[in-house]
Amino acid sequence: MKFFADTADIAAIDELVPTGLVDGVTTNPSIIAKSGRDFKEVIAEICKIVDGPVSAEVAATEANQMIAEGRELAKIASNVAIKVPLTWDGLIACKTLAAEDTMVNVTLCFSANQALLAAKAGATFISPFIGRLDDIALDGMELIHDIRVIYDNYPGLKTEILAASVRGANHVRMAAIAGADVATIPPDVIKGLVRHPLTDKGLEAFLQDWAKTGQSIL
Ligand code: E4P
Repeated sequence: MKFFADTADIAAIDELVPTGLVDGVTTNPSIIAKSGRDFKEVIAEICKIVDGPVSAEVAATEANQMIAEGRELAKIASNVAIKVPLTWDGLIACKTLAAEDTMVNVTLCFSANQALLAAKAGATFISPFIGRLDDIALDGMELIHDIRVIYDNYPGLKTEILAASVRGANHVRMAAIAGADVATIPPDVIKGLVRHPLTDKGLEAFLQDWAKTGQSIL
């Protein structure tokens, strides 16, 4: 499963890149607002640091405006993926931008039928929002399972399932089990995945025993 960093925080991305764990980045208007940065500037900066897809979301809601904004954002770098909402107009914009060989991430997906529509419209990525479904006592992971089954039923559909609104380690584990192609994950959650108390305890014991040998490797 690929990992995208769900952030526009350059320092956080810089910290993750040397691990080789960052296959791409996603942003949304809320993330851009939180960064306090100029939208196009920060997307350009991220595209220089990360080779994989960097999602930048349109602000318009009407198809032709979305297409115009998408074309403008796509000029920033060849690895920009245009994010459009899962609306009727968003699907039209998706179809047009995808036909121009621009990567499209269809966002705000909350049903399997929506995911089917996005795939038929040529989306590169579909973003089902797991956490926001869990927030209203629905099962976000069930949606990932359903989309996986549907997409696998029709090999002609090439859209990748991008598990979004990931809130913790369990979401990552379960999205991987469910066969999501990608999970977009907040940097703190990515960093948290490495931690296990038995790893810390085991390492501490090994270091103590190694010190007793009085040896050095270098
Ligand atoms: C990423 O593409 C989504 O916009 C993001 O994961 C949404 O996360 P949230 O539901 O925690 O805001």
